[in-house]
Amino acid sequence: MSAPIIFGITGASGAPYGVRLLQQLVAAEQSVSLIVSSHGLRLLETETTIKSLDDLRESVGGKGWDAYVKTYANEDRGAPPASGSALSAGMVICPCSMGTLSAISVGASRSLIERAADVTLKERRKLVLVTRETPLSAIHLQNMLRLSRAGAVVLPAAPGFYNRPQAISDLVDFVVARVLDQFSIPHMLGKRWNG
Ligand SMILES: Cc1cc2nc3c(=O)[nH]c(=O)nc-3n(C[C@H](O)[C@H](O)[C@H](O)COP(=O)(O)O)c2cc1C
Repeated sequence: MSAPIIFGITGASGAPYGVRLLQQLVAAEQSVSLIVSSHGLRLLETETTIKSLDDLRESVGGKGWDAYVKTYANEDRGAPPASGSALSAGMVICPCSMGTLSAISVGASRSLIERAADVTLKERRKLVLVTRETPLSAIHLQNMLRLSRAGAVVLPAAPGFYNRPQAISDLVDFVVARVLDQFSIPHMLGKRWNG
């Protein structure tokens, strides 16, 4: 099996983006190392009907989850994603809170998500941060600039309207499609602009 994408879900608004992205990665038969922060789970509870990792498994489908998803505790900084010697196909944090963004920007590595992101940068692998906050302070912007200069892709959850979305799911898919494009994962989400 190919190397996993490390997938962090943190406590920014936008839990439906995370759920949809996970569903798409599994549908694409992409293995995933999944880490959900405590506030990531809290936002899943607040913004979706998902109250636990078991519920998340159900939303993805048990068969696909069992085949492609491996979960790690965010407190376990000794898990494979904490080391560069464990190969990965990069990392995405979706949604990514300003707190986690800040910690990664200074290399704090206080949780497995932060450490895995730190490792992803040092190994020069792809790190995609699906941030959500508005408005942005100078501190948020500085953190984003530092991370972008360090090689991360800052991909704000900011859906476009040029394809005339009809439902919330269209807006969610717009953002998820941009993330999948970053990893060159084929998908059928939404139309591509062709002028
Ligand atoms: C309902 C709710 C909505 C939140 N929305 C955001 C948000 O959109 N962006 C953000 O950066 N933090 C948001 N937060 C705050 C984060 O959850 C908080 O800073 C948390 O400590 C982040 O921790 P984590 O990055 O380890 O998940 C929200 C918190 C709650 C309870």
